[in-house]
Amino acid sequence: MIKEISAETLRKDFPIFERTIRGKKLVYLDNAATSQKPIQVISKIEEFYKMHNANIHRSVHLLSYEATVEYEEAHKKVARFINANSWQEIIFVRNATEGINLIAYSLGLNRLKEGDEIIIAISEHHSNLVPWQFVARKTGAKLKYIDINDDYTLSIDNYKKLLTERTKIVSVGHASNITGIINPVKEIVSLAKEVGAITIVDGAQGLPHLKVDVQDIGCDFYVGTGHKMCGPTGIGFVYGKKEILEEMEPFLYGGDMIDTVTTEGSTWNELPWKFEAGTANIAGGIGLGAAVDYLSSIGMENVEKIEREITAYALERLSSIKGIKLFTPNKVEGRLGVFSFVVDGVHPHDVAYILDREGVAIRSGHHCAQPLLNRIGADSGTARISTYIYNTKEDIDIAVEAIEKVKSVFKV
Ligand SMILES: Cc1ncc(COP(=O)(O)O)c(C=O)c1O
Repeated sequence: MIKEISAETLRKDFPIFERTIRGKKLVYLDNAATSQKPIQVISKIEEFYKMHNANIHRSVHLLSYEATVEYEEAHKKVARFINANSWQEIIFVRNATEGINLIAYSLGLNRLKEGDEIIIAISEHHSNLVPWQFVARKTGAKLKYIDINDDYTLSIDNYKKLLTERTKIVSVGHASNITGIINPVKEIVSLAKEVGAITIVDGAQGLPHLKVDVQDIGCDFYVGTGHKMCGPTGIGFVYGKKEILEEMEPFLYGGDMIDTVTTEGSTWNELPWKFEAGTANIAGGIGLGAAVDYLSSIGMENVEKIEREITAYALERLSSIKGIKLFTPNKVEGRLGVFSFVVDGVHPHDVAYILDREGVAIRSGHHCAQPLLNRIGADSGTARISTYIYNTKEDIDIAVEAIEKVKSVFKV
């Protein structure tokens, strides 16, 4: 059942909104960079350090047992959140970047050879692009980019032309951090399966906003990052199908990831620990579990509903501003509340600076997706407004007023 939950009520869970920015209301619209943290997550981390702090998987004392149980439980929460088949398919890593590197190193470097092909999209974040350039350079594989259509959506026609029996890996973002477009990942995965390719979805921008079911998508890997979904920084995860993870070489070597070690060699621990070498970010993992609890208590259907409303309002208000160019489709469906724009004749950093003076936090620059910016003709970067569950219409009104101020300061 869909509960009546609004941005106004959710906002109260986030202590940061009690502060002001130079005497003005904090309007936080930089959510594609990182989200704010609810008190439920902050308190859980505090409680861990105050009451349960110990290393995991090592000692027989009660604290270590409690920490181990909580940390493992966090894996189970993530598994349930994305409908993984087993919690052993969830590997905790530092962030999405490390997650994609894990796959690129362990699977890409070991399996690919000259003549093989990797397909990603031109719209990828550098995290899902640079690791594949590295794999291609090391193995002699070829890296191909899916182009976009005029409305910024991925060109499925182009993708179909790129797919061949040489395609070994297809890795695409769930949603773009520049245009907000949600990619048809289920269709992309299903087409890749026809040629037997391994499929990876970079969920850094999808998971915080959308109900995700990895079994329904059918992907082999799905990567998430905690800090964009109400969790702490320094924690993310890789979901991977068990049979593939079992066959893969470890990524990092050392303590906790082994079963036995002799002077001759080592054998590996069971999943997921085979991929979690060294002392884990235990508090971070538990914090991610709390973030998943928080989003689950709202219900991802409600998250989507709240976000659709604010996206529609932001689109209407922003597209009515004269003298700005929006790099985003003029529709509410199939997209997130991410709005990249330029104010004619004003550098994006100047836009962000003036908005900050008004208490409005946005991002400016290349947003770690330079190939897409070049493709859409925004080579010198954009300003970017990105919304989340706690953003209200008032936030958008203040941001729009601040953009008008930019125009009057620069007389454009
Ligand atoms: C689409 C996308 N993928 C990957 C990342 C990388 O996430 P992280 O910096 O947490 O590794 C981001 C971050 O902005 C992103 O937007």
